[in-house]
Formats: sequence, structure tokens, C-alpha cells
Amino acid sequence: RLEKIWIVFGISMLIVFLSVIGVSAFAMGMNPPTGHAHTIDPAKVDLTPPFDQPGLKKVGENEYEAVMTAFAFGYKPDKMEIPAGATVHFMITSKDVVHGFEIPGTNVNMMVLPGEVNHLTYKFDKPGSYLVLCNEYCGGAHEWMKTTIVVN
Ligand code: CUA
Repeated sequence: RLEKIWIVFGISMLIVFLSVIGVSAFAMGMNPPTGHAHTIDPAKVDLTPPFDQPGLKKVGENEYEAVMTAFAFGYKPDKMEIPAGATVHFMITSKDVVHGFEIPGTNVNMMVLPGEVNHLTYKFDKPGSYLVLCNEYCGGAHEWMKTTIVVN
């Protein structure tokens, strides 16, 4: 009887051990240690979550996550609306070359690198229409590259 209990215990431990190895191998496969965890093939940005569905997502009390893509020559989404006082966590990548992300009149200013996930958080206290502009030369229509954030 005692032997039987030990055999069952041994087999259970083996199963637990193998599952731990399997799970960590799987997790490592998702984030290969050799590459940057956030690197996306720029050509596949449109197919890669969350960038396959750019847009605003409410994540808290007047707090949003804005998943965005930049490309020659525009941004997605091309317009967003939020309530005054909203905190927005921007998460943006580029589908081609280096673009900019600047909101004149605020301290929002970052580079958007192809395939990298670029983060920035800003609280929109004052109502109004905020332009997001590209401030990195990216080609012929660079100066027309923009999107709008409407704060109500
Ligand atoms: Cu994009 Cu300049």
C-alpha cells in the first residue's frame, strides 16, 4: 500500500515538473531572450495585437489606453475623443520609417520607431482640440501627417 502511494506521488511530481518546463519553454518562445521583447516586424504591425485594432480603450476611472499606429503619412485612429481630465496612456508603433509624435502646447513629444512599442502618458486637463503632429521628416507629405484628440 505504502509503495503504491509513493508511486502515485512520484508520478504526480513528474507531471508537475514537466508542466513547469513546458510552460516556461512556451513563455520563452513568446519572448525570445535574444531579441527585444517589443520588436514587431513593421510590415506585420497591422496583424499584430493590439495594433491590429488601433483605438481607445477605457482602463480606469477617466483613464484610457490609446493604441495607435504611425505610417507615411498619418496615424490611426485619425481622431479620438476623451473627457476633460482624462489620463491617456499612448502606445504607438510605426509601420514604416521613424515618425514623430508631438502635441504642440504640451510636453508630449516622442519618437515613433518602426516595430518598437513607444509609450507615453499624458493627462488632458483642458478641453479643446489637440493636434498630434509628426516632427520627424518622413517623406513628401510629412507636414500633413497628423491626428486629432478632442477633449470635451
Ligand atoms: Cu511622419 Cu513626418
